[in-house]
Amino acid sequence: MNIPILGNMTAEEFLRDYWQKKPLLIRQAIPDFVSPIDGDELAGLSLESEVESRIILEHGEEPWELHHGPFTEQTYAELPESHWTLLVQAVDQFVPDIADYLKDFEFLPRWRIDDLMISYAAPGGGVGPHFDNYDVFLLQAEGRREWKIGQLCDSDSPLLPHPDLRILDSFETADSWVLEPGDMLYLPPRLAHWGTALDNCMTWSIGFRAPSSAEVITHYTDFVARFLSDEDRYSDADLSPVQDPAEIRREDIQRLRNLILQQLDDDNLLLSWFGQHMTEPRYPEFLQGHELDADTLSGFLQEGGCLARSPAARLAWSRIELDGAPAILLFASGSSRPFPEHLVGFIQHLCSQDLLTMDNLRPWLDRDEAVTLLCELVKQGSLECMDE
Ligand code: SIN
Ligand code: CO
Repeated sequence: MNIPILGNMTAEEFLRDYWQKKPLLIRQAIPDFVSPIDGDELAGLSLESEVESRIILEHGEEPWELHHGPFTEQTYAELPESHWTLLVQAVDQFVPDIADYLKDFEFLPRWRIDDLMISYAAPGGGVGPHFDNYDVFLLQAEGRREWKIGQLCDSDSPLLPHPDLRILDSFETADSWVLEPGDMLYLPPRLAHWGTALDNCMTWSIGFRAPSSAEVITHYTDFVARFLSDEDRYSDADLSPVQDPAEIRREDIQRLRNLILQQLDDDNLLLSWFGQHMTEPRYPEFLQGHELDADTLSGFLQEGGCLARSPAARLAWSRIELDGAPAILLFASGSSRPFPEHLVGFIQHLCSQDLLTMDNLRPWLDRDEAVTLLCELVKQGSLECMDE
């Protein structure tokens, strides 16, 4: 499959040679790209209290001064001519035209995408040399930015003393490029990078998320523990006589290992937890559910109304085996629910369509389970009713 945003490289080639491995510069990933949002509109978003934004001033009262939004008009009036940058998180949640660009990345699992962050920088501005623990595509949206890439880093890489920012103490330039609108740079996790605005410049960061091993283990074990009773315990009915009552023996540890493995190594539990975890909304407060019964829903659809996925919702699905029969597990914004396998087409449709209408839902509307699910997703807030 040739992927336009990868300069027509195939998904196979990109995944084999670059993904999580090495950087890739794609000139004119989006030819003649014109950003649907400008610097003023981005600054406007940063005035809103529900939007996460930051401004970094390279030469403030202290080096690399960090300010958190929401900002005011006054903040912008007082900024210097150069060497500052504004960063606005999850712009895809607030501007549907921007969320549409995430579709260009659907050769990767959607649940791996974290958000689309946008930075706007005055000449000389940037966030300094740093590394991230996640993959990122940096799309140049306006003006020019010089990107340098450096060494591979980890938690032991020396940082400048700073209470909040992780700026590298040293940077070994390995390569550098000037990106113009439409150019894009892919960076694997942990590779040092340093972007500097050459003009007033806007950069989109399509960031991916990968839970840390510590996060997986703590959250998954908490999840599994919810299903365990007080009687599920370490047991040693096969105990052999002890030589020294103070000794913990290999065989005792082997029992413990078996206990852990037996409780944790359950495909369906693992999948349920993972799907729920990866579809947790970033802004759950934006999911605004409301009651809807099947009759009201069909009337609404018949009158031309449609259902749209809430920008805050995350949906995913998987195949499972349930009581020996194939089934489908749907994950919707942190929850999960099994469905019979014959609904797979419907579930895929739900997860892939932006708008659900009478027309495109028609094949499933005579199935009670499908209609009930639509009502539940509206109640949960993952789907929103929209009048056409
Ligand atoms: C930026 O857009 O200035 C920073 C993006 C990044 O380095 O991840
Ligand atoms: Co970065």
